[in-house]
Amino acid sequence: MSCRVVVLLSGRGSNLRAIAEAQLPIEIAAVISNRPQAAGLAYARERGLTAVALDHTAYPEREAFDALLADEIERHRPDLVVLAGYMRILSPAFIARFEGRLLNIHPSLLPLFPGLKTHERALAEGVKIHGCTVHFVTAQLDHGPIVVQAAVPVRADDTVDSLASRVLVQEHRIYPQAIRWFAEGRLLNNHGRVNLKDDLTSQSVLSNGA
Ligand code: GRF
Repeated sequence: MSCRVVVLLSGRGSNLRAIAEAQLPIEIAAVISNRPQAAGLAYARERGLTAVALDHTAYPEREAFDALLADEIERHRPDLVVLAGYMRILSPAFIARFEGRLLNIHPSLLPLFPGLKTHERALAEGVKIHGCTVHFVTAQLDHGPIVVQAAVPVRADDTVDSLASRVLVQEHRIYPQAIRWFAEGRLLNNHGRVNLKDDLTSQSVLSNGA
């Protein structure tokens, strides 16, 4: 039986596209967006996926919205919930409900640069290596057990846009990879550290792209 995945997003949905096109052993059971106009939702519809808009602006209380969102997700009976550019902080109750089956992608090498504007901050700090991280979501924002990371070199002439687009190429590589590993049951949580079952080539460590 294939792994049922629900994807949450708020924006353009390029990670959703990468996941949908990667021929993974999964079924995308639904794509849910808190922004009805999200391009990612339009893509989901075009692809014939179940696409659901849940407009958070209609719900002044975060907890109330998150409870509704969680109920909607559960309706699709997911084995895994994937945050793909979901741009809202999730309440602790929501995270507790899905912990262990909730993945996020973040555009930095965590634990560096949690939060927003990661590329801008990486350039301002003058780091020479930047990248992206897929991790399990826990109550602490942009923390949680790391599944896979990809590094990209920072070039002297990089702008926020050029760096962001090089990192995005790697996001599109490691997110499908992480989801494949999850679906194959290969992610082992060892006291908050994720080990990859039968990882003879250190794939989760050496993912890197120039
Ligand atoms: C990505 O950079 C991701 O790392 C971050 O939000 C962005 C989403 O992009 N969490 P897209 O909507 O998948 O194109």
